[in-house]
Amino acid sequence: MSLSFDDRIREYSEYIEQYLDEQCFRYDTQPQKDLFSAMRYSLLAGGKRIRPILTLDFCRMCGGNWKDAISFAAATEMIHTYSLIHDDLPCMDNDDFRRGKPTNHKVYGEAIAVLAGDALLTAAFSYLAAAPYCADIRIRAVEILSNCAGQLGMVGGQVLDMQSEQRQCSRQEVLDIQSRKTGALIRAACMLGVVAAGGSEEQISAASEFASHLGLAFQIRDDMLDVIGDAQKLGKAVGVDDHKNTFVQLYGIEACDQMVKDHTQTAVNALSVFDSTEFLTELAYSLTGRTV
Ligand code: IPE
Ligand code: IPE
Ligand code: MG
Ligand code: MG
Ligand code: MG
Repeated sequence: MSLSFDDRIREYSEYIEQYLDEQCFRYDTQPQKDLFSAMRYSLLAGGKRIRPILTLDFCRMCGGNWKDAISFAAATEMIHTYSLIHDDLPCMDNDDFRRGKPTNHKVYGEAIAVLAGDALLTAAFSYLAAAPYCADIRIRAVEILSNCAGQLGMVGGQVLDMQSEQRQCSRQEVLDIQSRKTGALIRAACMLGVVAAGGSEEQISAASEFASHLGLAFQIRDDMLDVIGDAQKLGKAVGVDDHKNTFVQLYGIEACDQMVKDHTQTAVNALSVFDSTEFLTELAYSLTGRTV
């Protein structure tokens, strides 16, 4: 019998939390204890774990053993967590709260926060390298994650996001910024799941199409929550994006709500090449009205 949506999400989440907790950065014999502590502080602070859940379910859906894909899933979460630590720094968004706790630099200072982010980024690739797959699969995973996280993907998007604060962007520019800064890592998470299962090129490209639209819906909702969200619930400050080129600034809340639904539907349509899509379909729909 297949699991209900709630049971499956619980199963994935518990497995991810347990894995991150067991694996991560307890080197009792090493002297750089503040670094390990800062890495663990942000990585284990919670978060929805959307990216690793996507990796695990794409693997399951493509016929792989999803538990084996945990090191790919953990790698995407490490990169995501590093991106949040750096995103919160005073030189970037200058935020004090994240995942319901003081931001990394508020606790450990800016230098350790930068270095904890650097170390999480680096560690992610050692998790890909050590995954229980043949070399071709591991190399493909490195290629996907480095392309999506780097200068053409998330980091590139963060640069454009920051530089666009000074001016009014066109709709196309905002789309491009968001699809890099948020979409790229979500794309990597989905594609890695397919790669882990030894899926076809057609499946990899369908996963990328799904993720592009899910990522857009996700960031539009994130921008909406900056206006209509509850800081306590979100675990991060709201009302901090006024000076940014967000979807809400461009389109207004109501149009954004419709865009979230439309992109989610397009994402779900892209799943038609797979079997057993109920979980991802329900996950995508559940994110449209998310409040966290
Ligand atoms: C927040 O991501 C930053 C964006 C890319 C929008 P999430 O909303 O996935 O944050 P966590 O991982 O749940 O904290
Ligand atoms: C962050 O986007 C995207 C990243 C690559 C980290 P935001 O700056 O909108 O994320 P929040 O709102 O701080 O979580
Ligand atoms: Mg930002
Ligand atoms: Mg931010
Ligand atoms: Mg935001």
